[in-house]
Amino acid sequence: MSEGKSAKKLGAGTRLLHAGAPALRDGSGPVNVPVVRTSTVRFENTAAHADYHHRRTAGERVASYGRHGLDTHRALEDAVTGLEGGHRAFLTPSGLSAITLVLLALLSPGDHALVADGVYAPLRRVDSTLLQRLGIKVEYFSPAHDDLTSRIRPNTRLLYLESPSSLLYEVLDLPALSAIARDRGVTVATDNTWSGGWFYKPLALGANISIQAATKYISGHSDLMQGIVVVDSPALAAKLSTAYEALGLTIGADDAYLALRGLRTLPVRLAQHQRHATAVAEFLQQQPQVARVFYPALPSDPGHALWKRDFSGASGLVTFAFRHATPAAADAFVDALALFGIGASWGGYESLALAAQPERLREHRQWTGDAPAVRLHIGLEDPADLIADLSQAFAAAAAKAQR
Ligand SMILES: Cc1ncc(COP(=O)(O)O)c(C=O)c1O
Repeated sequence: MSEGKSAKKLGAGTRLLHAGAPALRDGSGPVNVPVVRTSTVRFENTAAHADYHHRRTAGERVASYGRHGLDTHRALEDAVTGLEGGHRAFLTPSGLSAITLVLLALLSPGDHALVADGVYAPLRRVDSTLLQRLGIKVEYFSPAHDDLTSRIRPNTRLLYLESPSSLLYEVLDLPALSAIARDRGVTVATDNTWSGGWFYKPLALGANISIQAATKYISGHSDLMQGIVVVDSPALAAKLSTAYEALGLTIGADDAYLALRGLRTLPVRLAQHQRHATAVAEFLQQQPQVARVFYPALPSDPGHALWKRDFSGASGLVTFAFRHATPAAADAFVDALALFGIGASWGGYESLALAAQPERLREHRQWTGDAPAVRLHIGLEDPADLIADLSQAFAAAAAKAQR
């Protein structure tokens, strides 16, 4: 984008493509920001060094050491801050470390946090291994079943959500939940990995903090581990910054570059994931072995109306529950798939399948089933090929059940 064109007038997709583009030097230069690796940052003289140090201490985003990141980091931070519509971004080595950063930055001994029961399950390990030792009380609640107002205590500091939830994609009424929390001085953080930050804007709907595992859709190629936290205010940026520095968090410049590269194609990839996942979800709904399909873009999904109100699209994640199958038949179904890889992650260009662990499903109060479930990540392959693969796997599972 040449100087003089106002970024504010451009569409969100255009801004995402051009965010952080390097200025031309001597009339030429690359399209994307270069990888600037460093540990040591050099200064012209002691006064310049002291000045940088002073500005950093005052909260300015300047680097006096490699851990603070240089141009590549800054370009990614600016791009994701713009994507989420926030004030400032923090880059962490994984999605889980982004979650842990938020919890440690905002909670002190004696504090209470309310966490939606459908969140990414390893948060519970952060609770049981770190937060409990620090005397921080985490209470899990079901946004669909419990009254949030009556759960907020005088020492509640954080409401932590994820919408749609992990595994079952329960869509939450973020504006309503945030209003209750914020009226009582409780900070609202939400995991926004499902939408890649493109289909859902939690900060505009009342959350103070949006967290993403950039490992998933921002990367888009299953070759990167990274977390991102975007906050909505200077006060929260100061709190996060203190914990971020104390924990020594940073990411490598090559990883910042990969995330920035992925961001450029995020909207087109997500549109394709949605198209393919919708076709697969509709196919699954028609299968006699399937009791229920979890995908908010389906009109039959209980979260559909909220999804339509608050989201502009859906991701490639689809979970289905079998009608009667045994866990062995569900495993036989997954093993029979030829195009789908078997793997725990998602958000890449390829399709994946994984039997959902019953203990994980039971953590969600929304789950009432007893038959096994399978989580699919629908990738960018031709949907007809994916559906043919799923068809033959259903036949293989049925054959196994009859033996
Ligand atoms: C919703 C969600 N949030 C956070 C994470 C954690 O990300 P990472 O694997 O990069 O630590 C995941 C990983 O699967 C996830 O699904």
